[in-house]
Amino acid sequence: MKNMDTSLMQAGKNRTSKAKTDQFYDDVISGLGSVPKHLHSKYFYDANGDKLFQDLMNCEEYYPTNCELEIFSEKAPEICRAIIGDRDAFDLIELGAGDATKSTYLMQYLLEQGADFTYLPIDISENVISCLNVTLPVTLPGLQINGLNGEYFDMLEKAASISNKRKVIMFLGSNIGNMAVPEAEIFCMELRNHLSAGDMLLIGFDLKKNPKTVLAAYNDKEGITKKFNLNLLERINRELNADFDLSQFDHYPIYDPETGACKSYLVSLTDQQVNINGTEAIHFVKDECIFMEISQKFTITQTDHIARHAGFKPLNHYFDSRRWFIDVIWAAE
Ligand code: TRP
Repeated sequence: MKNMDTSLMQAGKNRTSKAKTDQFYDDVISGLGSVPKHLHSKYFYDANGDKLFQDLMNCEEYYPTNCELEIFSEKAPEICRAIIGDRDAFDLIELGAGDATKSTYLMQYLLEQGADFTYLPIDISENVISCLNVTLPVTLPGLQINGLNGEYFDMLEKAASISNKRKVIMFLGSNIGNMAVPEAEIFCMELRNHLSAGDMLLIGFDLKKNPKTVLAAYNDKEGITKKFNLNLLERINRELNADFDLSQFDHYPIYDPETGACKSYLVSLTDQQVNINGTEAIHFVKDECIFMEISQKFTITQTDHIARHAGFKPLNHYFDSRRWFIDVIWAAE
């Protein structure tokens, strides 16, 4: 009986991972079949991508993580006071939790204050969620944690079905910047639809600043950003049985100070054909680009506007000392 349970579970697991691979395949084929070619940035974060992103966060030019860490280390008491409110129990849900370094700062403080909460990290990376479930209760003794692996809105629905406590959502690291302003607005509206009045959102925005500072963060001297981008091609090779020649692609980042859009491209260095799974042939002409990712930079006024437009009231603004980054608390109206 025990064995049967295990094999049933395994069968279930295989079905899920097959569905995930199918989705990955469909997204890659449709993205590379579009004009201009593009790939979805959510696929950057496999185990290698997670590791490269860690390296990127530690490199000199990549400032957003340090800015937000400064905000959390300096302002934890104020931020936590706002979150704890009347001291009723709540679910602390983090969208795209990653290694949870920044939220750990806040949770440490929340635990010290005796706040009654369960931490529900949501991440697209299976690797991230299984690591967090194991390591966080060691780093933060007494923490109640329930990691959810999947897409943001699917997992928010799951979270709502698990408990009806009030929700505090964290969306940190300017993850919101992975959308251009109109999409960011739609995303926040959808987020609002998954919440009830009084629920809160703690959200980080990377602000517009000297264009050279922004561009350098996406064009680091060590070439980690380039490796991070190329890793997605490597992932496609490995998981979808493709034959990208990584040496035939270069990384090209641009920043437009007017719109605040910072974009990453991979440039094909030659005319070439890439085969995927023996079934699809993708042609590249020399100098053709794949659009990989947008990292939108915002003004403070824009963030307030997005809040109101999406049905939130901006409550508090927290800055780092250079005013390069902002974390805001919004209340669902
Ligand atoms: N999206 C994150 C950011 O904007 C991570 C990131 C940094 C990134 N550099 C990148 C994603 C280059 C893709 C390409 O800061």
